Amino acid sequence: MQKLKDKVVAITGASSGIGEATALLLAQSGAKVVLGARRSDRLEALAKRIVDAGGDAAFAVTDVTQRSDLVRLVTLARDRFGQLDVLLSNAGIAPISRLDELRVDDWEAMIDVNLKGLLFGIAAALPVFRQQGFGHFVNVASTSGIVTTPTMAVYSATKMGVRAISEGLRQEAGPSLRVTIISPGFVQTGLANSMTNPEMKAQINNKMTEIAISPDAIARAIAFAIEQPPEVDVNEIIVRPTAQS
Ligand code: NAI
Repeated sequence: MQKLKDKVVAITGASSGIGEATALLLAQSGAKVVLGARRSDRLEALAKRIVDAGGDAAFAVTDVTQRSDLVRLVTLARDRFGQLDVLLSNAGIAPISRLDELRVDDWEAMIDVNLKGLLFGIAAALPVFRQQGFGHFVNVASTSGIVTTPTMAVYSATKMGVRAISEGLRQEAGPSLRVTIISPGFVQTGLANSMTNPEMKAQINNKMTEIAISPDAIARAIAFAIEQPPEVDVNEIIVRPTAQS
């Protein structure tokens, strides 16, 4: 983990689940983390926990549906720590349901957070990475971004979109920028809280209790991608519970 030391990593959706676990692991390994999420109380508590343990952390309230918030997060990284090595685009929601239910507001919200949020992050960080001559996008997709199933159509579409945008970005990035897709299966987090259909929420929560793995497993995969030498670009990591079909 020595190669993580002093890397400056901005993380969206950092206040819970995979974002929080990754912030803690990277900070323990010597990275400087710049935490972005909407809940300022949780962000502040997480930053304090990291700093109290001897790590470096800064935070900014960040709603990824607001382009200016992503610019502020990237600017904070540079102002506070002098550069940005990695943007971890992790914020995501999954209010899944069958298309027949016509939960159009949920469809829009998933597109806004999961897809436009990713694009706003790219828009904020890409010019900075170009200017620096280095930088690493780590984008959280999903195994639902590889195959879809009933109720998952729109969520899957956003995550397939995350993979398509990431691959396009990788091809355009040139020799000095890295792009990694992280595709988790079932992970024990608060993701079901974003579900508006109570049946779906209960079903997913049950499945999580049954088979989900710890967000630490995803944090380790992210750390692995970041700690590789600059000429090594880990393009995609899929991490599922062994029990997931
Ligand atoms: P989580 O709900 O604990 O974390 C998601 C974070 O994104 C939360 O902190 C939430 O507040 C934040 N967020 C939501 N909307 C936001 C917005 N507009 N602006 C900024 N932050 C916002 O859930 P989890 O599982 O840690 O989710 C992280 C990523 O992992 C998401 O992209 C999710 O789609 C993906 N994922 C999760 C899986 C799981 O089984 N938990 C499986 C596959 C992918």
